[in-house]
Amino acid sequence: MAKKYRVGILGATGTVGQRFIQLLEDHPQFEITALAASDRSAGKPYAEACAWKLSGSIPESIGGITVQPIEPPLDCDIVFSSLPSSVARETEEMFARAGYPVISNSSCYRMDEDVPLLVPEINADHLGLLDVQRKKRGFDKGFIVTNPNCAILSFAPPLAALDRAFGVESVIITTMQAISGAGYPGVSSMDITDNVLPYIAGEEPKVETEAQKILGRLEDGSITKADFTVSAQCFRVNVLDGHTASVRVKLKETSTLEEVVAAMENFPGIDLHSSPPKFIEVLDEPSRPQPRLDRDRGNGMTITVGRVFPDNVFDYRFVGLSHNTVRGAAGSTILNAELLIDRRII
Ligand SMILES: NC(=O)c1ccc[n+]([C@@H]2O[C@H](COP(=O)([O-])OP(=O)(O)OC[C@H]3O[C@@H](n4cnc5c(N)ncnc54)[C@H](OP(=O)(O)O)[C@@H]3O)[C@@H](O)[C@H]2O)c1
Repeated sequence: MAKKYRVGILGATGTVGQRFIQLLEDHPQFEITALAASDRSAGKPYAEACAWKLSGSIPESIGGITVQPIEPPLDCDIVFSSLPSSVARETEEMFARAGYPVISNSSCYRMDEDVPLLVPEINADHLGLLDVQRKKRGFDKGFIVTNPNCAILSFAPPLAALDRAFGVESVIITTMQAISGAGYPGVSSMDITDNVLPYIAGEEPKVETEAQKILGRLEDGSITKADFTVSAQCFRVNVLDGHTASVRVKLKETSTLEEVVAAMENFPGIDLHSSPPKFIEVLDEPSRPQPRLDRDRGNGMTITVGRVFPDNVFDYRFVGLSHNTVRGAAGSTILNAELLIDRRII
Protein backbone atom coordinates (compact mmCIF):
# COMPACT_ATOMS: atom_id res chain seq x y z
CA MET A 1 0.00 0.00 0.00
CA ALA A 2 1.28 3.50 -0.85
CA LYS A 3 2.54 5.65 2.03
CA LYS A 4 -0.09 7.77 3.73
CA TYR A 5 0.92 11.25 4.86
CA ARG A 6 -0.01 12.06 8.45
CA VAL A 7 -2.14 15.21 8.65
CA GLY A 8 -2.64 17.60 11.55
CA ILE A 9 -5.60 19.99 11.42
CA LEU A 10 -5.49 23.43 13.07
CA GLY A 11 -9.00 24.71 13.80
CA ALA A 12 -10.26 21.12 13.65
CA THR A 13 -13.47 21.76 15.58
CA GLY A 14 -14.73 24.55 13.27
CA THR A 15 -16.86 24.58 10.12
CA VAL A 16 -13.92 24.01 7.78
CA GLY A 17 -12.15 21.70 10.24
CA GLN A 18 -15.19 19.40 10.26
CA ARG A 19 -15.27 19.38 6.47
CA PHE A 20 -11.58 18.31 6.45
CA ILE A 21 -12.46 15.38 8.69
CA GLN A 22 -15.39 14.38 6.49
CA LEU A 23 -13.41 14.68 3.23
CA LEU A 24 -10.33 12.88 4.56
CA GLU A 25 -12.23 9.80 5.71
CA ASP A 26 -10.91 7.00 3.46
CA HIS A 27 -8.58 9.34 1.53
CA PRO A 28 -5.90 7.20 -0.12
CA GLN A 29 -3.01 9.62 0.55
CA PHE A 30 -3.79 11.13 3.97
CA GLU A 31 -4.62 9.99 7.47
CA ILE A 32 -5.49 12.35 10.30
CA THR A 33 -3.14 11.95 13.26
CA ALA A 34 -3.43 15.29 15.09
CA LEU A 35 -6.21 17.78 15.82
CA ALA A 36 -5.76 21.21 17.35
CA ALA A 37 -8.06 24.06 18.34
CA SER A 38 -8.47 26.77 20.98
CA ASP A 39 -7.95 26.50 24.73
CA ARG A 40 -11.69 25.87 24.97
CA SER A 41 -11.20 22.52 23.20
CA ALA A 42 -7.61 21.53 23.99
CA GLY A 43 -7.32 18.50 26.27
CA LYS A 44 -10.76 17.13 25.38
CA PRO A 45 -11.54 14.18 23.09
CA TYR A 46 -12.58 15.55 19.69
CA ALA A 47 -16.12 14.15 20.02
CA GLU A 48 -16.59 16.15 23.20
CA ALA A 49 -14.91 19.36 22.01
CA CYS A 50 -16.67 19.56 18.64
CA ALA A 51 -20.28 20.56 17.96
CA TRP A 52 -20.48 18.39 14.80
CA LYS A 53 -22.73 20.07 12.22
CA LEU A 54 -22.29 17.90 9.12
CA SER A 55 -24.47 15.00 8.04
CA GLY A 56 -23.35 11.63 9.38
CA SER A 57 -21.33 11.11 12.56
CA ILE A 58 -17.79 11.93 13.53
CA PRO A 59 -15.68 9.06 12.13
CA GLU A 60 -14.93 6.51 14.85
CA SER A 61 -11.16 6.82 14.43
CA ILE A 62 -11.39 10.60 15.04
CA GLY A 63 -13.79 11.03 17.96
CA GLY A 64 -11.31 9.76 20.55
CA ILE A 65 -8.32 11.88 19.43
CA THR A 66 -7.40 14.41 22.10
CA VAL A 67 -7.50 17.98 20.80
CA GLN A 68 -4.21 19.81 21.27
CA PRO A 69 -3.22 23.46 21.48
CA ILE A 70 -2.22 25.11 18.19
CA GLU A 71 1.53 24.87 18.66
CA PRO A 72 4.26 22.61 17.37
CA PRO A 73 5.17 19.84 17.70
CA LEU A 74 2.17 17.92 16.38
CA ASP A 75 2.41 14.27 15.43
CA CYS A 76 2.00 14.77 11.66
CA ASP A 77 3.85 15.32 8.36
CA ILE A 78 1.61 18.10 7.01
CA VAL A 79 -0.53 20.80 8.63
CA PHE A 80 -3.92 21.85 7.22
CA SER A 81 -4.95 25.17 8.77
CA SER A 82 -8.46 26.53 9.18
CA LEU A 83 -7.75 29.02 11.93
CA PRO A 84 -9.30 32.48 12.17
CA SER A 85 -6.89 34.97 10.63
CA SER A 86 -6.45 36.65 14.02
CA VAL A 87 -4.33 33.70 15.18
CA ALA A 88 -3.33 32.12 11.87
CA ARG A 89 -0.48 34.47 10.95
CA GLU A 90 1.66 33.79 13.96
CA THR A 91 0.70 30.11 14.26
CA GLU A 92 1.19 29.13 10.62
CA GLU A 93 4.60 30.80 10.52
CA MET A 94 5.54 28.94 13.72
CA PHE A 95 4.65 25.59 12.12
CA ALA A 96 6.42 26.40 8.84
CA ARG A 97 9.51 27.43 10.78
CA ALA A 98 9.33 24.15 12.70
CA GLY A 99 9.55 22.29 9.36
CA TYR A 100 5.90 21.53 8.55
CA PRO A 101 4.33 22.16 5.14
CA VAL A 102 1.39 24.42 6.06
CA ILE A 103 -1.56 24.44 3.69
CA SER A 104 -3.86 27.21 4.76
CA ASN A 105 -7.42 28.43 4.32
CA SER A 106 -6.89 31.62 6.24
CA SER A 107 -6.60 34.97 4.55
CA CYS A 108 -3.52 36.29 6.32
CA TYR A 109 -0.80 35.05 3.90
CA ARG A 110 -2.80 34.91 0.68
CA MET A 111 -1.54 38.20 -0.75
CA ASP A 112 2.05 37.97 0.53
CA GLU A 113 4.35 38.19 -2.50
CA ASP A 114 6.21 34.97 -1.72
CA VAL A 115 3.16 32.83 -0.88
CA PRO A 116 1.37 30.82 -3.59
CA LEU A 117 -2.40 31.43 -3.74
CA LEU A 118 -3.30 28.22 -5.50
CA VAL A 119 -6.09 26.89 -7.65
CA PRO A 120 -4.29 23.83 -9.03
CA GLU A 121 -6.17 23.82 -12.36
CA ILE A 122 -5.22 27.48 -12.96
CA ASN A 123 -1.82 28.25 -11.48
CA ALA A 124 0.05 25.15 -10.28
CA ASP A 125 3.23 26.80 -11.62
CA HIS A 126 2.98 29.41 -8.82
CA LEU A 127 4.52 26.72 -6.60
CA GLY A 128 7.76 28.13 -8.02
CA LEU A 129 7.39 30.85 -5.34
CA LEU A 130 8.29 28.36 -2.61
CA ASP A 131 12.05 28.64 -3.31
CA VAL A 132 11.76 32.41 -2.91
CA GLN A 133 9.69 31.99 0.26
CA ARG A 134 12.13 29.60 1.89
CA LYS A 135 15.07 31.91 1.15
CA LYS A 136 13.27 35.07 2.25
CA ARG A 137 11.83 33.68 5.49
CA GLY A 138 14.66 31.32 6.34
CA PHE A 139 12.38 28.26 6.33
CA ASP A 140 14.22 24.96 6.02
CA LYS A 141 11.78 22.16 5.09
CA GLY A 142 8.57 23.99 6.02
CA PHE A 143 6.57 26.43 3.88
CA ILE A 144 3.12 28.03 3.54
CA VAL A 145 0.73 27.72 0.61
CA THR A 146 -2.82 29.11 0.63
CA ASN A 147 -6.12 28.64 -1.12
CA PRO A 148 -8.39 31.54 -2.06
CA ASN A 149 -11.29 33.09 -0.19
CA CYS A 150 -14.36 30.90 -0.53
CA ALA A 151 -16.24 33.37 -2.76
CA ILE A 152 -13.40 33.55 -5.31
CA LEU A 153 -13.98 30.00 -6.55
CA SER A 154 -17.49 30.89 -7.67
CA PHE A 155 -16.14 33.20 -10.38
CA ALA A 156 -12.32 32.96 -10.79
CA PRO A 157 -12.31 29.69 -12.79
CA PRO A 158 -14.71 30.93 -15.52
CA LEU A 159 -12.88 34.25 -15.43
CA ALA A 160 -9.56 32.42 -15.92
CA ALA A 161 -11.06 30.68 -18.94
CA LEU A 162 -12.13 34.03 -20.43
CA ASP A 163 -8.85 35.73 -19.56
CA ARG A 164 -6.80 33.02 -21.29
CA ALA A 165 -9.00 33.01 -24.38
CA PHE A 166 -9.85 36.69 -24.88
CA GLY A 167 -8.25 38.76 -22.09
CA VAL A 168 -10.38 40.28 -19.33
CA GLU A 169 -10.47 44.06 -19.02
CA SER A 170 -12.86 44.62 -16.11
CA VAL A 171 -15.40 42.74 -14.03
CA ILE A 172 -18.36 43.58 -11.81
CA ILE A 173 -19.19 40.87 -9.28
CA THR A 174 -22.07 40.54 -6.85
CA THR A 175 -21.71 37.58 -4.50
CA MET A 176 -24.54 35.88 -2.62
CA GLN A 177 -22.75 34.00 0.11
CA ALA A 178 -23.97 31.12 2.25
CA ILE A 179 -24.35 31.20 6.02
CA SER A 180 -21.69 28.51 6.60
CA GLY A 181 -19.13 30.93 5.13
CA ALA A 182 -19.21 32.80 8.43
CA GLY A 183 -18.18 29.72 10.43
CA TYR A 184 -20.09 28.41 13.46
CA PRO A 185 -22.28 29.79 15.00
CA GLY A 186 -21.90 32.51 12.37
CA VAL A 187 -24.63 35.08 11.79
CA SER A 188 -27.59 35.13 14.14
CA SER A 189 -30.79 33.50 12.87
CA MET A 190 -32.59 36.72 13.85
CA ASP A 191 -30.40 38.60 11.37
CA ILE A 192 -30.45 36.20 8.42
CA THR A 193 -33.99 34.78 8.45
CA ASP A 194 -36.25 36.55 5.94
CA ASN A 195 -33.31 38.76 5.09
CA VAL A 196 -30.28 39.61 2.91
CA LEU A 197 -27.28 41.23 4.60
CA PRO A 198 -25.40 43.68 2.33
CA TYR A 199 -22.15 43.55 4.31
CA ILE A 200 -19.60 40.81 5.09
CA ALA A 201 -16.70 42.23 7.06
CA GLY A 202 -13.47 42.31 5.04
CA GLU A 203 -14.93 40.39 2.09
CA GLU A 204 -15.12 42.94 -0.72
CA PRO A 205 -11.39 43.80 -0.72
CA LYS A 206 -10.56 40.06 -0.93
CA VAL A 207 -12.94 39.54 -3.84
CA GLU A 208 -11.50 42.62 -5.57
CA THR A 209 -7.84 41.49 -5.32
CA GLU A 210 -7.33 37.72 -5.05
CA ALA A 211 -8.35 36.77 -8.60
CA GLN A 212 -5.68 39.02 -10.15
CA LYS A 213 -2.98 37.20 -8.18
CA ILE A 214 -4.41 33.76 -9.01
CA LEU A 215 -4.50 34.62 -12.71
CA GLY A 216 -1.10 36.32 -12.58
CA ARG A 217 2.11 35.10 -14.26
CA LEU A 218 5.14 33.85 -12.35
CA GLU A 219 8.16 35.70 -13.76
CA ASP A 220 11.64 35.81 -12.19
CA GLY A 221 10.44 34.63 -8.81
CA SER A 222 7.48 36.96 -8.47
CA ILE A 223 3.86 37.14 -9.63
CA THR A 224 2.86 39.77 -12.16
CA LYS A 225 -0.80 40.18 -11.37
CA ALA A 226 -3.46 40.09 -14.09
CA ASP A 227 -4.28 43.66 -15.05
CA PHE A 228 -8.10 43.67 -14.97
CA THR A 229 -10.08 45.71 -12.45
CA VAL A 230 -12.76 44.19 -10.24
CA SER A 231 -15.67 45.91 -8.51
CA ALA A 232 -17.40 43.71 -5.95
CA GLN A 233 -20.37 43.77 -3.61
CA CYS A 234 -20.80 40.87 -1.20
CA PHE A 235 -24.09 39.77 0.36
CA ARG A 236 -24.86 37.14 3.00
CA VAL A 237 -28.00 35.23 2.00
CA ASN A 238 -30.19 32.65 3.67
CA VAL A 239 -28.52 29.59 2.08
CA LEU A 240 -26.68 27.00 4.14
CA ASP A 241 -23.84 26.05 1.73
CA GLY A 242 -22.83 27.33 -1.70
CA HIS A 243 -21.66 30.79 -2.77
CA THR A 244 -23.21 32.29 -5.91
CA ALA A 245 -21.68 35.10 -7.97
CA SER A 246 -23.41 37.29 -10.52
CA VAL A 247 -20.69 38.46 -12.93
CA ARG A 248 -20.48 41.01 -15.73
CA VAL A 249 -17.28 41.04 -17.70
CA LYS A 250 -15.65 43.28 -20.30
CA LEU A 251 -13.24 41.43 -22.59
CA LYS A 252 -10.16 42.69 -24.44
CA GLU A 253 -10.98 40.76 -27.63
CA THR A 254 -14.35 40.43 -29.34
CA SER A 255 -15.86 36.99 -29.12
CA THR A 256 -19.10 35.19 -29.83
CA LEU A 257 -21.38 33.68 -27.18
CA GLU A 258 -20.47 30.19 -28.47
CA GLU A 259 -16.76 30.94 -28.07
CA VAL A 260 -17.31 32.25 -24.53
CA VAL A 261 -19.23 29.12 -23.49
CA ALA A 262 -16.68 26.84 -25.18
CA ALA A 263 -13.77 28.58 -23.43
CA MET A 264 -15.37 27.88 -20.05
CA GLU A 265 -16.48 24.33 -20.81
CA ASN A 266 -13.16 23.29 -22.31
CA PHE A 267 -10.96 24.79 -19.59
CA PRO A 268 -8.75 21.86 -18.61
CA GLY A 269 -8.95 20.15 -15.23
CA ILE A 270 -6.11 18.45 -13.40
CA ASP A 271 -5.65 14.77 -12.64
CA LEU A 272 -5.50 14.54 -8.84
CA HIS A 273 -7.48 12.35 -6.44
CA SER A 274 -9.94 15.08 -5.35
CA SER A 275 -10.29 16.85 -8.69
CA PRO A 276 -13.78 16.59 -10.16
CA PRO A 277 -14.51 14.89 -13.50
CA LYS A 278 -15.30 18.37 -14.86
CA PHE A 279 -13.68 21.52 -13.44
CA ILE A 280 -16.22 23.97 -14.93
CA GLU A 281 -19.67 22.79 -15.90
CA VAL A 282 -21.83 25.16 -17.96
CA LEU A 283 -25.59 24.59 -17.70
CA ASP A 284 -28.16 25.64 -20.31
CA GLU A 285 -31.26 25.54 -18.10
CA PRO A 286 -32.42 29.13 -17.54
CA SER A 287 -32.94 28.67 -13.80
CA ARG A 288 -29.51 27.25 -12.95
CA PRO A 289 -27.11 27.20 -11.16
CA GLN A 290 -28.84 27.02 -7.77
CA PRO A 291 -26.97 26.34 -4.50
CA ARG A 292 -29.24 23.51 -3.32
CA LEU A 293 -29.24 21.72 -6.68
CA ASP A 294 -25.71 22.34 -7.91
CA ARG A 295 -23.29 22.82 -5.01
CA ASP A 296 -22.51 19.08 -4.75
CA ARG A 297 -21.55 18.59 -8.40
CA GLY A 298 -18.24 16.75 -8.66
CA ASN A 299 -18.39 16.01 -4.90
CA GLY A 300 -18.53 19.75 -4.27
CA MET A 301 -15.39 20.41 -6.34
CA THR A 302 -16.99 21.47 -9.66
CA ILE A 303 -17.64 25.13 -10.48
CA THR A 304 -21.10 25.44 -12.02
CA VAL A 305 -21.84 28.25 -14.46
CA GLY A 306 -25.11 29.31 -16.06
CA ARG A 307 -26.99 32.29 -17.46
CA VAL A 308 -24.15 33.04 -19.90
CA PHE A 309 -25.42 35.86 -22.11
CA PRO A 310 -24.25 38.99 -23.92
CA ASP A 311 -24.61 42.01 -21.63
CA ASN A 312 -26.02 45.42 -22.59
CA VAL A 313 -23.37 47.36 -20.65
CA PHE A 314 -20.38 45.00 -20.44
CA ASP A 315 -19.64 42.23 -23.00
CA TYR A 316 -20.96 39.13 -21.23
CA ARG A 317 -22.64 38.12 -18.01
CA PHE A 318 -22.89 34.82 -16.18
CA VAL A 319 -23.69 33.27 -12.82
CA GLY A 320 -21.11 31.10 -11.06
CA LEU A 321 -21.54 28.78 -8.08
CA SER A 322 -19.19 26.81 -5.87
CA HIS A 323 -19.46 24.92 -2.59
CA ASN A 324 -17.85 27.25 -0.06
CA THR A 325 -16.67 24.73 2.53
CA VAL A 326 -15.60 22.10 -0.04
CA ARG A 327 -14.13 23.79 -3.17
CA GLY A 328 -13.97 27.11 -1.33
CA ALA A 329 -12.10 25.73 1.70
CA ALA A 330 -11.27 22.18 2.87
CA GLY A 331 -11.54 20.54 -0.57
CA SER A 332 -9.15 23.12 -2.07
CA THR A 333 -6.65 22.65 0.73
CA ILE A 334 -6.71 18.89 0.19
CA LEU A 335 -6.35 19.38 -3.58
CA ASN A 336 -3.36 21.65 -2.94
CA ALA A 337 -1.77 18.97 -0.77
CA GLU A 338 -2.35 16.38 -3.51
CA LEU A 339 -0.69 18.77 -5.97
CA LEU A 340 2.31 19.19 -3.67
CA ILE A 341 2.71 15.41 -3.48
CA ASP A 342 2.26 15.05 -7.24
CA ARG A 343 4.99 17.67 -7.81
CA ARG A 344 7.21 15.92 -5.22
CA ILE A 345 7.38 19.02 -3.02
CA ILE A 346 6.18 16.95 -0.05
N1 LIG B 1 -16.46 28.73 6.43
C1 LIG B 1 -16.01 28.87 5.19
O1 LIG B 1 -16.76 28.67 4.21
C2 LIG B 1 -14.57 29.26 4.92
C3 LIG B 1 -14.13 29.20 3.62
C4 LIG B 1 -12.81 29.55 3.31
C5 LIG B 1 -11.98 29.97 4.32
N2 LIG B 1 -12.43 30.04 5.61
C6 LIG B 1 -11.47 30.47 6.62
O2 LIG B 1 -11.13 29.32 7.41
C7 LIG B 1 -10.90 29.74 8.76
C8 LIG B 1 -11.83 28.99 9.69
O3 LIG B 1 -13.18 29.25 9.33
P1 LIG B 1 -14.38 28.43 9.94
O4 LIG B 1 -15.55 28.85 9.14
O5 LIG B 1 -14.06 27.00 10.05
O6 LIG B 1 -14.47 29.09 11.43
P2 LIG B 1 -15.11 28.50 12.77
O7 LIG B 1 -16.24 27.58 12.46
O8 LIG B 1 -15.35 29.66 13.63
O9 LIG B 1 -13.91 27.61 13.41
C9 LIG B 1 -12.74 28.20 13.92
C10 LIG B 1 -11.77 27.14 14.41
O10 LIG B 1 -10.60 27.79 14.90
C11 LIG B 1 -10.44 27.54 16.31
N3 LIG B 1 -10.06 28.78 17.00
C12 LIG B 1 -10.77 29.92 17.12
N4 LIG B 1 -10.07 30.84 17.84
C13 LIG B 1 -8.91 30.23 18.19
C14 LIG B 1 -7.79 30.66 18.96
N5 LIG B 1 -7.71 31.89 19.50
N6 LIG B 1 -6.77 29.79 19.12
C15 LIG B 1 -6.83 28.54 18.59
N7 LIG B 1 -7.86 28.08 17.84
C16 LIG B 1 -8.90 28.93 17.65
C17 LIG B 1 -11.80 27.06 16.80
O11 LIG B 1 -11.57 26.23 17.92
P3 LIG B 1 -12.65 26.10 19.11
O12 LIG B 1 -13.76 25.24 18.62
O13 LIG B 1 -11.84 25.43 20.17
O14 LIG B 1 -13.09 27.50 19.46
C18 LIG B 1 -12.29 26.29 15.57
O15 LIG B 1 -11.68 25.03 15.52
C19 LIG B 1 -11.10 31.27 8.79
O16 LIG B 1 -9.86 31.89 8.60
C20 LIG B 1 -12.01 31.49 7.59
O17 LIG B 1 -11.88 32.80 7.09
C21 LIG B 1 -13.71 29.68 5.94
